[in-house]
Amino acid sequence: MGTINIFRTTAVLLAVVTCSSSVEDKAHWRKIALDDITRKLYHTPNTRVAKNVVLMIGDGMGISTVTSARILKGQLKGKAGEETFLNFEKFPYTGLSKVYSQDYQVPDSAATASAMMTGVKTNSRCMGVDGLAMPGECRNLTERRLNGMGHWANDAGKSTGFVTTSRVTHATPAAMYAVTTNRDWEDDRSVPKNTGSPYCTDIAWQLIHNNSHMNVIMGGGSANFVPTTASDPVTLRSGRRLDDTNLIEVWKNDKIQRNANYSKAYNAKQLEDIDPANTQYLLGLFASSHMAYELDRNKEPEGEPSLADMTRKAIQVLSNNDNGFFLMVEGERNDDDCNIN
Ligand SMILES: *[C@@H]1O[C@H](CO)[C@@H](O)[C@H](O)[C@H]1NC(C)=O
Ligand SMILES: *[C@@H]1O[C@H](CO)[C@@H](O)[C@H](O)[C@H]1NC(C)=O
Ligand SMILES: *[C@@H]1O[C@H](CO)[C@@H](O)[C@H](O)[C@H]1NC(C)=O
Repeated sequence: MGTINIFRTTAVLLAVVTCSSSVEDKAHWRKIALDDITRKLYHTPNTRVAKNVVLMIGDGMGISTVTSARILKGQLKGKAGEETFLNFEKFPYTGLSKVYSQDYQVPDSAATASAMMTGVKTNSRCMGVDGLAMPGECRNLTERRLNGMGHWANDAGKSTGFVTTSRVTHATPAAMYAVTTNRDWEDDRSVPKNTGSPYCTDIAWQLIHNNSHMNVIMGGGSANFVPTTASDPVTLRSGRRLDDTNLIEVWKNDKIQRNANYSKAYNAKQLEDIDPANTQYLLGLFASSHMAYELDRNKEPEGEPSLADMTRKAIQVLSNNDNGFFLMVEGERNDDDCNIN
């Protein structure tokens, strides 16, 4: 049965490709070039100050992955594929950056996301510190810690938030809010104890205790916020924390104490039902660990929202602030095969 299906799919794809790839003459290619150059020549730079900033990160999304995505997009529309554009490829400005970290040619998300957020390269596994901080060493970091876009936006009176399909404590989102020399300290299980360092706290703890200004937090990783003695609201199994602290309750109590409107969501329906006009703070946790790939996602109301659903709701909530907002959106696990993500 499976084999037959695979052959059928292959046959359909081949047929689509053969029928649609038409041969173009020289006028076709020269027109594309002329249109491109004309567009660039007549492009007027926008010199106004941006009110809102949305940083979208495709984790591990290198050029070869972008190429595959572009071809698939075209083929799904019955074309050959290569001639298609992803939407962001038509932005007026594009560029490439060198994403090495201070200590690795092939870096990890911690150091690279930290560089995107702060503008400063650092060692792999580290976030929110400069390159003089040693991986795994959490003493003497006061001089090493860095602020980044999330803090700058907050200082400018803007709302801030992030959505991700990874755990909200994973390296890319954590680079927006955590100060740590070990990306693996997502909950309190492996953090060195009794060091006396204010930076030897786990990433989930830092998100709730050190970033209470953050308006929108959405993604997976609920287990890192719930102790082993309590039930994870997403899975109804026990959480991972050893410190007997329920950080979701801490988050909620902080908002109550500050008389702020808040909403929580643990599935797609609950997220959809949230009225953004009455929500200053939104915490959405939709999986105990990473969220599912879009293809595998449970699309029922009690399942997970899509990255697009989360992004839409985040923009609505953050738009309550007339001063604007900073939002980070991460599509995670593009590079899952290579294990460093
Ligand atoms: C941290 O600083 C203190 C002095 O301020 C010094 O004695 C100690 O060796 C330093 N520790 C590390 C790990 O650098
Ligand atoms: C987080 O907050 C605690 C107090 O609540 C403070 O001691 C610590 O320095 C803060 N950590 C960071 C990374 O700012
Ligand atoms: C908070 O909720 C109340 C009651 O729904 C509403 O009147 C108020 O405008 C809300 N405030 C914000 C800042 O969303």
